[in-house]
Amino acid sequence: MQNTWGAMKPSATGAINAKAEELRRKGRRIYNFAKGDPVLPNHPLLIDAAKKALGESPYAPIAGLTELRKAAADWMNKRYGSTFKEAQTVVTNGGKFGIYAALQVLLEPGDEVIIQAPYWVSYPEMVLLAKGKPVIVQTRWKLTPELLKQAITSKTKVLILNNGCNPTGILYSQSEMDALLRVADEAKIWIISDEVYSEIVFDGAKYISCATHSDRTIIIESCSKNFAMAGWRVGFAFGPKEIIDKIIALQSQSTTGTSYISQKVAIAALENSKIVADYVREALAKRRKLFFDLLGKEAPPAGIYYFAKMGNCEEILEKTGVALVPGEAFGAPGYARFSFAETEEEIKKGLHALEKIV
Ligand SMILES: Cc1ncc(COP(=O)(O)O)c(C=O)c1O
Repeated sequence: MQNTWGAMKPSATGAINAKAEELRRKGRRIYNFAKGDPVLPNHPLLIDAAKKALGESPYAPIAGLTELRKAAADWMNKRYGSTFKEAQTVVTNGGKFGIYAALQVLLEPGDEVIIQAPYWVSYPEMVLLAKGKPVIVQTRWKLTPELLKQAITSKTKVLILNNGCNPTGILYSQSEMDALLRVADEAKIWIISDEVYSEIVFDGAKYISCATHSDRTIIIESCSKNFAMAGWRVGFAFGPKEIIDKIIALQSQSTTGTSYISQKVAIAALENSKIVADYVREALAKRRKLFFDLLGKEAPPAGIYYFAKMGNCEEILEKTGVALVPGEAFGAPGYARFSFAETEEEIKKGLHALEKIV
């Protein structure tokens, strides 16, 4: 499967959201469970920071404001005992650009990247955009050391991990993660660890990060879910300085870094990370309880999604007005992804509408 710009698939979450929007414009009542962000107002501390920054709009440094890079490194180091310095931290346009950039700087044409399915929709396309080859490993829903070993070849360059997985919400324990990392280390492959749901864990579950792993590891973080700031577009990559320098160079020739005002808001989020993350988690925990109580199903330990066996999502949308993301987009046909991060009223009405067909 060789990608060209012409053949590049647009993001599937974007496509279903667009279809839902089209039906809404035609007057249909739509219950949108296809979104990928915590539907929450910004915490007041963030609104204050945005107000203070209004009126200033210089180019920010391409790698991000020093204060923000330091605050982001501190946030990691305090949670995980890592030792990231400012020079090992770059501010990116969301976690998404961080993953894209990491793949661009790591991959040579034909390099293989191991991705477990179900996967976040953009990984395979991003690998193709970097002229790499995605190697998809089907799982139920965790990657195991045995499956990983079978997938590794002499061309394997990177393993993408996504603890707090989108779409399944699974969490790896310390021993499960250690076992995977041991296999990756033996094969001397890079890890891109997508940790953008690190604060969205429930019922006291512990989040295991790869932050202290090896110098062949790049951590991707983000303010989008952790601090309910998706539209501000602030993410981070942490890793060895040589790789971070290359990502900064890539940014200098593409995005010129992240919006200045967004970075000011992100500083407020990180300096108050516990307060803001607790606010988001507590609001989501209520919605999670309502959603899974109404469904009578067990909730996954992390993230904002429910991934379940489902029929055709387009038909479901047409018949009930409920928008879901089809499992094909995650490498798992026959399934669909619900976001439970909708308002309580939308959850109640949307699940009621869905009762017509399930
Ligand atoms: C697993 C995963 N990684 C990365 C991202 C990118 O998030 P953002 O670019 O908003 O930080 C998302 C967003 O949905 C995601 O679910």
